[in-house]
Amino acid sequence: MVFTGSRPAPTHVIAHLSDMHLIAGPGLLQGHIDTVAKFRGALEKVEGSGERFDAIVLSGDLTDSAQPEAYALLRQMVEPVAERLGAALIMTGGNHDERRPLARELYGRDTDEPQDTVTVVNGLRIIDIDSAVPGFHHGGFSDDQYDWLARQLASPAEHGTILVTHHAPITYRSPVMQLLDFDDVERLRSALEGTDVRAILSGHLHVTSFGMLGAIPVFVAGGVSYVDDVGAPRDLLMGVDGPQSWNLIEVHDDSVVGTVAPVEQHPTWPSLSEAVVEFMATVPEEERRTVFSTKR
Ligand SMILES: [Fe+2]
Ligand SMILES: [Fe+2]
Repeated sequence: MVFTGSRPAPTHVIAHLSDMHLIAGPGLLQGHIDTVAKFRGALEKVEGSGERFDAIVLSGDLTDSAQPEAYALLRQMVEPVAERLGAALIMTGGNHDERRPLARELYGRDTDEPQDTVTVVNGLRIIDIDSAVPGFHHGGFSDDQYDWLARQLASPAEHGTILVTHHAPITYRSPVMQLLDFDDVERLRSALEGTDVRAILSGHLHVTSFGMLGAIPVFVAGGVSYVDDVGAPRDLLMGVDGPQSWNLIEVHDDSVVGTVAPVEQHPTWPSLSEAVVEFMATVPEEERRTVFSTKR
C-alpha cells in the first residue's frame, strides 16, 4: 500500500541521460569502458525506477565516433524503453557525433543540417538544438539556429519550455574543457531572456553539475559512459569508471527539480520498513506529519 505525498506531484517527469559515447562492435572506450553495457545498465535503472516518464532526453555525444551502426544500436536500445514507458524520445548531437550519419540513422534524412526539434508533451515544450560546431569540439549555435530558436520561443507554451543542448552554458573547473565549452554564452543568455525557458538540460562535461544562465537553471547530467575525476588536479582530465549517473528532472508548476540517480547497482536495504509505510497509509492525512516526524 502507498500513500501520496503532501506536495502536489510533478506535472512532468524527464529522464535525462548524456554522453553515451556508444561504440558498435568490439573495442572499449579509451581502452576502459564497454559503452553498450553502460548504456544498457542506465536504461534498466530508468525503467526500474517505476517513474511515469513524459520524456527521455539524450543530450549528446550519443556515439563516440559517429559510426552509423552505433546510431542504429542506440535506437535499438532506447526506442523499446521509450515505447514501454510511453515517453517521448528526444536526442541531440554532441561534438563526438556527426550531423549526416546522425540525421540519416535517427531521422531518415540525408542531410548535413542540424536536427533541431520541438516536442510538446502534455503542454511542456522541449526544444533540442545541436550545439556541435561542425569540425570542432567546442559548441555554439549558428545565426540560423538562433533565428529558428527565436521563432519557436516567440509564443509561450502552456507549461513553459525545457531547452536541451549538449554544450552546457556554464563554466566548468577544467581549463582544457573551457577551450571546448559553449561559445558566446552571453548571446545565448540574452536570446533566452524574457522567454518561457524554465531549464536547460546539457551534458559534455562528464560530471553532474548545476549552475545558472541568467535566471535559468542549468542541469548537467554526468556521463553514462565515464566520468571526469573532480578529485584530480584541475589541469588534468582523468576518466573514472564510476560514478556514472542520469538525472531525474521533475517539473512542477512553480519549480524544476533535478535529482542525480546512480547507474551502478550498489548494495541496498529497506531504510524504512514496509510495515511503517503500511501503517502511515492508515493515518489520516492531516496527522501524518506529526505522527511520522515526531522524534522517538
Ligand atoms: Fe562526452
Ligand atoms: Fe561532448
